Amino acid sequence: MNIVLGITGGIAAYKAPDLVRRMRERGAEVQIVMTASAEEFVTSTALQAVSGRPIRSNLWDKEAEAAMSHIELARWADLVLVAPATAEVMARIVSGGAPDLLTTICLATEAPIALAPAMNRVMWSNPATQANREVLEERGIHIIGPGVGSQACGETGSGRMLDPDVIAATVFNLTGGKGEGLLEGRKVVITAGPTREAIDPVRYITNRSSGKMGYAIASAAAAQGAEVVLVSGPVNVAEPPGIAVINVESAQQMYAATHDVIGDADIFIAAAAVADYRPAKLVEQKIKKNDESMSLDLVRCPDILASVAHLDPAPFTIGFAAETENVLDYARGKLQRKNLDLIIANRVGDNCGFDRDDNTATALWKNGERSYPTLSKVDLARELIELAAEHFYAVRGSDTQPKLTIISNKD
Ligand code: C5P
Repeated sequence: MNIVLGITGGIAAYKAPDLVRRMRERGAEVQIVMTASAEEFVTSTALQAVSGRPIRSNLWDKEAEAAMSHIELARWADLVLVAPATAEVMARIVSGGAPDLLTTICLATEAPIALAPAMNRVMWSNPATQANREVLEERGIHIIGPGVGSQACGETGSGRMLDPDVIAATVFNLTGGKGEGLLEGRKVVITAGPTREAIDPVRYITNRSSGKMGYAIASAAAAQGAEVVLVSGPVNVAEPPGIAVINVESAQQMYAATHDVIGDADIFIAAAAVADYRPAKLVEQKIKKNDESMSLDLVRCPDILASVAHLDPAPFTIGFAAETENVLDYARGKLQRKNLDLIIANRVGDNCGFDRDDNTATALWKNGERSYPTLSKVDLARELIELAAEHFYAVRGSDTQPKLTIISNKD
């Protein structure tokens, strides 16, 4: 797959080398076209090193044009991706203006165009930008993101460029699976987030899970070419583009939704923090505080992971063990008891695990284990998906494996 990656002048341009790497890992050829202002944020030297191709930036560069003209570049592309896309480049593409190489290619290409906007939240919500977004979408241009969160300008809101992994996965989905991911043609079902077990119409029992780990795993699996179904409890994480999300609240709903989609799944990853117990009965009216104390009768929730692992045939099954003590011992016990292929053990509580952007984990399987240093959940998810793919093919037969080298993220 040939991708022209347009980089425009926003602070998120610093993520461009990582984005290039994610796309090349999937087998894409990436030709970078930078605008003049992008060069204020990221060097062409770094981009040339990661893309392995000379950077294009000037429409009037006679030598480069002689080698491959802007029209040839526009034809060469299977997809034109602009990331980060500033408000300015969106406006220019809407207007049909072509004052520079990137916008000229956007005008001259017949390939799909995708933009990953990145800007301050007020610029993004400005009616002018939103009107431009609508026009672009009406014209069939794909808008990837932006995400919600803290911004380089110190504000918080919508306008962050999505994670390079997520953008790479979306690009892959847009081009109909022309990449070469490790999980090409595989279906992966993932549970994520907490569950809510209702006590009465206004109260529920839940836990501190944010869903970030499960969502990062879903994006990492999609980035490796998998068809991903994410069964999600209530979370505040943006839905990853190109992934089917089934939203549920309770453990029983998560159990039912998982079993609805698990039939043809190759891999199941249970990253959800499912409630162990739920109130024995749902009180229909709000419980009044008449007594000095009260007690709740609780019953066990169904164990989704164990139920999937005991299916016949069962998908390759991966669980998590979030523990506050004896982490590895408890995890190994669960690996056996729940009949799992892999388990990811991590410590929770005391500033680790839940509701954070990083995680420290050890993966355990029947005859071995691998420990990871503290990594961002996005990086850990990528590592875990590579490990999962390696073990999946080892168990299910390597004849089904795509001819790929596993590129490790250790450098
Ligand atoms: O037994 P424990 O809750 O510690 O096991 C954790 C693993 O089991 C996680 O992968 C979690 O998603 C899964 N699980 C489940 N259904 C439950 C409880 C846990 O799928 N009811």
